[in-house]
Amino acid sequence: MRVLGIETSCDETAAAVVEDGQHLLSNAVLSSMDLHAAYGGVVPEIAARSHIESIIPVIEQANCTWDDIDAIAVTYGAGLGGSLLVGVLTARTLAITKNKPLYAINHVEGHIYVNFLISTSLPNYKLPTKQPEFPMLGLIVSGGHSQLVIWRDHFDYTLLGQTHDDAIGEAFDKVAKIIGLPYPGGPNVEKAAAKGDAFAFNFPKAKLQAKYDFSFSGIKTAVLRAAQTAIGEDHTFPSYELPGRLSEAQKANIAASFQRVAVETVVDKLMTAFEEYQPKTVVIGGGVAASPELRRQLAERVPLPIEYTDRKLCTDNGAMIATLGSFHVMHNRPAADPYSLDIAPNLSM
Ligand code: KG4
Ligand code: ZN
Repeated sequence: MRVLGIETSCDETAAAVVEDGQHLLSNAVLSSMDLHAAYGGVVPEIAARSHIESIIPVIEQANCTWDDIDAIAVTYGAGLGGSLLVGVLTARTLAITKNKPLYAINHVEGHIYVNFLISTSLPNYKLPTKQPEFPMLGLIVSGGHSQLVIWRDHFDYTLLGQTHDDAIGEAFDKVAKIIGLPYPGGPNVEKAAAKGDAFAFNFPKAKLQAKYDFSFSGIKTAVLRAAQTAIGEDHTFPSYELPGRLSEAQKANIAASFQRVAVETVVDKLMTAFEEYQPKTVVIGGGVAASPELRRQLAERVPLPIEYTDRKLCTDNGAMIATLGSFHVMHNRPAADPYSLDIAPNLSM
């Protein structure tokens, strides 16, 4: 059973084919990230336009022979409206013209389901050796989401907590900007942090009433204040002049200390949930799941061996959508109407 997955919720145009919800046959991703870098973040209009240009070539690159495809799965939310529209309208058109059932997929759930891929015919992918078991505790850490979810079974889950303000990836991106590193911030903070002292600064962790909720706006402000203080200026010093005044060592120390504390914040909550729900598997998903610091802290604290998916499958891709789509097919979930499926930019879990 083969499913074509289409993903266009943010700045990656992506398509992939997955077999039986576990075998990756193809994975094509085209990012418009370089076009956004000059603006320091994703510009929705630019993202939507590049999806229009890229969607057909990317689907062709995913190399699907229509006779072999049993269903089409597409991200219908959450995401940028204009970006989602391109994927959904393309998928609707293909479902009608190729006469295939269409499945509407929640992007955030997809980030977790990519962990069900355990084999591939593609070179250079390092995948888990077995599929996750239930109860499964999932941590979603991306540019748009920070969520902790417990799955009792497929399609049976509870959202335990989420962020009140910025997502963790967004905090990485904003901190990168403060110290003058280009977008996307995560991988650049990771690189800078490798040369820094993670205990040079003691940034605060947000204390929230709700046991499993997160907040990342405070640490971002704390980083700004620490950077101003480090160069002997007060809080009125303009942030755009900071990169020119901070030394390489100061930047590296800020990056390393921020990275340690931001990751500790999510791992602390995950550990509380781990003790309460005693899951058989812990899985992580989303762009920040690529972080070696997150993987290091999890290995240190979670008393279970965690198998991670390939770093290439942590950021947005079509494989995650095709994988979850496969489970929709295998569990006889209702298909979407290709004549009316709408986008849901604010879709929650
Ligand atoms: O999942 P994703 O591709 O897009 C969303 O659905 O938001 O995640 C992108 C986010 C960005 O904020 C980026 O800075 C972050 O993932 N990211 C990382 C790393 N690689 C990407 N954050 C920390 N460390 C990394 N190595
Ligand atoms: Zn994502």
